[in-house]
Amino acid sequence: MPIDAFHPEASLGRTVPVRLGAEDLPALVRFERRANDDAWSEALLEAALRDEDYAVWGVRSANDSALWAVAILAYLPFDAELQSICVLPDARRQGLAREMLGWVMRCARARGAERLLLELRQSNLAARRLYERAGFRIDGQRRGYYRRDDGRGEDALLMSRDLVRGD
Ligand SMILES: CC(C)(COP(=O)(O)OP(=O)(O)OC[C@H]1O[C@@H](n2cnc3c(N)ncnc32)[C@H](O)[C@@H]1OP(=O)(O)O)[C@@H](O)C(=O)NCCC(=O)NCCS
Repeated sequence: MPIDAFHPEASLGRTVPVRLGAEDLPALVRFERRANDDAWSEALLEAALRDEDYAVWGVRSANDSALWAVAILAYLPFDAELQSICVLPDARRQGLAREMLGWVMRCARARGAERLLLELRQSNLAARRLYERAGFRIDGQRRGYYRRDDGRGEDALLMSRDLVRGD
């Protein structure tokens, strides 16, 4: 399906993230299994959809309402944390994640967050470039934080973006 099948409305241009609710759980579970190598469990997704300190944003296809991209944001007392951002493999490299990230930053700022935090696998070069180009900086590293397929640990990079000063 071509990317221009998205609703061409609102401030984001081609895509309009909508806040997902409990009724979206089955679609969200299907999306995670299809798109995310580090898929969240159904129980975690359900908890995020119900928790007022979380916001789960989705971009849907205009044709069949299937989810094409999802971002999960947790609101903390002074900061916000991007816990997941994922795009369907067929829809990658078309600017969707960049647009979702901009949207999430605006939501976090509007809620009073001073910084947006996140962590990623050290080997995830696509995500690292996405974040660096959006102004995120590396704050530190967590040794062996992620599990690899071969059972060994992989380091996490901790990154953050100031939401108060500058764009
Ligand atoms: C990482 C991910 C979200 C990027 O989504 P996307 O919609 O393809 O990204 P965009 O098209 O918005 O790309 C924005 C920028 O990110 C970088 N980028 C994205 N994919 C890249 C890749 N495969 N290789 C190198 N850089 C990449 C580029 O700088 C790109 O800008 P450019 O196209 O102008 O060069 C997507 O690959 C994905 O869902 N991966 C699996 C889940 C995941 O790893 N999430 C991050 C966990 S921390």
